Amino acid sequence: MMEYHLNKKKVVYHAEGSKTSGGERILLHEAIDLTNGKPWGKKGYVVHQLFRETSFEKFEGETKQLLLSLWGKSGLSIPNDIQLDHYHTIAFNKTLHLSAVDKTKLLSVSDFPIPISEIENRISEICETSLVAKNPFDKQSVFHFRVVRPNSNDNNPLHRDVWLEDYANCINLYIPVAGSNELSSLTIIPGSHHWPESKIERTQGGAIIEGTKFNVPAVTRISEEYEIVRPNPQRNGVLVFSPYLIHGGAVNLNHNQTRISIELRLWKKS
Ligand SMILES: [Fe+2]
Repeated sequence: MMEYHLNKKKVVYHAEGSKTSGGERILLHEAIDLTNGKPWGKKGYVVHQLFRETSFEKFEGETKQLLLSLWGKSGLSIPNDIQLDHYHTIAFNKTLHLSAVDKTKLLSVSDFPIPISEIENRISEICETSLVAKNPFDKQSVFHFRVVRPNSNDNNPLHRDVWLEDYANCINLYIPVAGSNELSSLTIIPGSHHWPESKIERTQGGAIIEGTKFNVPAVTRISEEYEIVRPNPQRNGVLVFSPYLIHGGAVNLNHNQTRISIELRLWKKS
């Protein structure tokens, strides 16, 4: 069981199955740490402006068109005047939501709303090193929309990405698209990328919580003082964070807004 506080509310989840806790290894210290030497290296994340305003409006418009077309392919019936953050009114049950999610994940960066090089250049500037949106382990160049309905358990549990194979050495992006605010945006435990595994108990494999199966293992206990923050990047903002940080568990506490964000990872150019 994991219990933590978000926006002064208690959040609890029960993850099924066997649990494990690693030893004194610090996974980050065996990897390429793209936060190293940055003013934000100690906490492991930073919020920056993404583009100049003109470019962002284009990005916003293209993103909406892409989402509507993908939702259409999943069979959702979409009113002409739909606002993206009212998604939960059309995907009003788990089945509809899961078929939509299936269309909005693992998208090729060639379908990204603007040329991916614009993002690569901007994030390379922020990380002070040349980065590409291509995973050197599986050669995939993909991005995902993360969609969390209000009053739902659509959000994944607290985890490190690097507990999954093939996410070592990268840097993560969270780009808010709709309904992302102080009650819904991604949560992070600052500094946890430098913790040894021994401080965390987690599920052995992908978590199962209230019947929902997640790819990522879930944190089930933390034996360390910690705080959970919502850095909450604004419109035309980007949250850049280490995949070694504990993050997720970002319950959407809004009453009538779906939270939509883009998730994208970049690696050092070889
Ligand atoms: Fe993650």
